[in-house]
Amino acid sequence: MTAFKLNGRAVDVDAAPDTPLLWVIREHLKLTGTKFGCGVAQCGACTVHIDGEATRSCVTWLEDVEGSEVTTIEGLSPDASHPLQKAWIAEQVPQCGYCQSGQIMQAATLLENTPNPTREEIIEHMDGNICRCGTYVRIIAAIQRAAKEV
Ligand code: FES
Ligand code: FES
Repeated sequence: MTAFKLNGRAVDVDAAPDTPLLWVIREHLKLTGTKFGCGVAQCGACTVHIDGEATRSCVTWLEDVEGSEVTTIEGLSPDASHPLQKAWIAEQVPQCGYCQSGQIMQAATLLENTPNPTREEIIEHMDGNICRCGTYVRIIAAIQRAAKEV
């Protein structure tokens, strides 16, 4: 059994220690907002927060999160009222939507540490999160909008 906190709730997971956290979140704990894209840390679709750090859950093993605080898109705010979530809606960012929870979780750690980022800082921070629909311009606009509220 591996114990950790998921979105503020204590969980115990009975799975092999080398099970990817992404699988644990989706298959064992049934939270499907976090997506599987590449499985090799190259796209960012699976991004969650582990102890406040944006982390690729596809290459994080279950044993690595023992005792940690894991936050997924479902736990970013209790009612989808995080400034980024509101800005994402206002800017109509998603196209197919598949990459978007990872984009938002990645962006959230930027605003946590740099509340008023420059355009260059946004681009650098978001660089590893791929969107095959090419919504990058709207992602930047939404982060800039959210930064005003933060
Ligand atoms: S699925 Fe984890 S980085 Fe692509
Ligand atoms: S919105 Fe389709 S992959 Fe990003």
